[in-house]
Amino acid sequence: MSSTPHSPRILVTGGAGFIGSHTVLALAEAGYAPVIVDDLRNSRSEVLDGLERIMGHRVEFHGVDCGDRSGMAAVFAQPVHGAIHFAADKAVGESVASPEQYFSNNIGATANLTAMLREAGVQHLVFSSSCTVYGETETLPVAESAPVQPAASPYGYTKQACEHLLRYSHSAADGALGVALLRYFNPIGAHPSAEIGELPIGTPANLVPFLTQSVAGLRPALTVFGDDYPTPDGTCIRDYLHVCDLAEAHVAALQWLEKSAGALEAFNLGTGQGSSVKEVIAAFEAATGMPVPHQFGDRRPGDVTAIYADAAKAAELLGWRTQRSLQTCLADAWRWQQKLSA
Ligand code: UD1
Repeated sequence: MSSTPHSPRILVTGGAGFIGSHTVLALAEAGYAPVIVDDLRNSRSEVLDGLERIMGHRVEFHGVDCGDRSGMAAVFAQPVHGAIHFAADKAVGESVASPEQYFSNNIGATANLTAMLREAGVQHLVFSSSCTVYGETETLPVAESAPVQPAASPYGYTKQACEHLLRYSHSAADGALGVALLRYFNPIGAHPSAEIGELPIGTPANLVPFLTQSVAGLRPALTVFGDDYPTPDGTCIRDYLHVCDLAEAHVAALQWLEKSAGALEAFNLGTGQGSSVKEVIAAFEAATGMPVPHQFGDRRPGDVTAIYADAAKAAELLGWRTQRSLQTCLADAWRWQQKLSA
């Protein structure tokens, strides 16, 4: 199925970003009409061209900040069926240096968007949260019932605060607003067409974009942040999932909201498997045949030792589980990097 002029409009704030753009595709494939709301402050308009090449038509686009009430009026000029809210700043280090920016862009914008959704009578909201809300967990894999720990950074605090805000909005709406809080683990990879993928601006802070740029010769050797952690090989463990799997989870969450009027639930989205940094490097080399230049350095402040998901709730309620392997993730990430470097 693909979208038609009568398909339900779904706002995708941050829809030109990494996860947002892949979700736009998944929505269109499921018969929805995605509407990108993105002021392109941290993404590029070329993403819209890549989407057009895959979808065969230009997606509806509004170049506005979702925190800008007057700018958002045009977005609501036609009926809105639901919203998926990605738009946010997401660099942990930057958030430590500029907390005011993170409070304004992440919390303020979410408050504005949610108020406008309620005023328009929109009943379905999917929010982009993070496993960072769990902090350093004692029990692995971590389930949604695990306590939310004090945030390690302003970025992490904004994700927690937005979750709280949406719980209050959900109560205030008294059954008129369903909310899915999606706690992502580590999304990586790219669409297999290599038409869209991650476009980090400046030096990538995350492992896989730095790794692929390093292999492509655009960066010096990858520094593995610490090999003295209490893990089997001494490097940190994370739960890496393919961005296309993650995108499909948003469609599943929307469909769950459609049949669960006024519900609110948090869902972990991960594979359920932890991989160490050394294992990611080995999987990349196996998937691509390319050696990863790397060295071992100090621990990065704020990193947790190990975290991976108990994703049983998403399987049970959303009928969603990941389909793609770590090697597929890394092969797709490398295909995308090669396209960017060409
Ligand atoms: C971080 C945030 C997470 C946020 C995500 C998106 C924390 C604890 N987590 O995830 O909330 O949603 O970024 O921006 O802040 N690594 C290296 N060398 C590198 C880069 C990373 O060894 O050059 C290691 C890290 O130490 C970590 C793993 O690779 O063990 C993954 O790092 P990264 O991709 O940055 O993601 P997280 O820190 O897990």
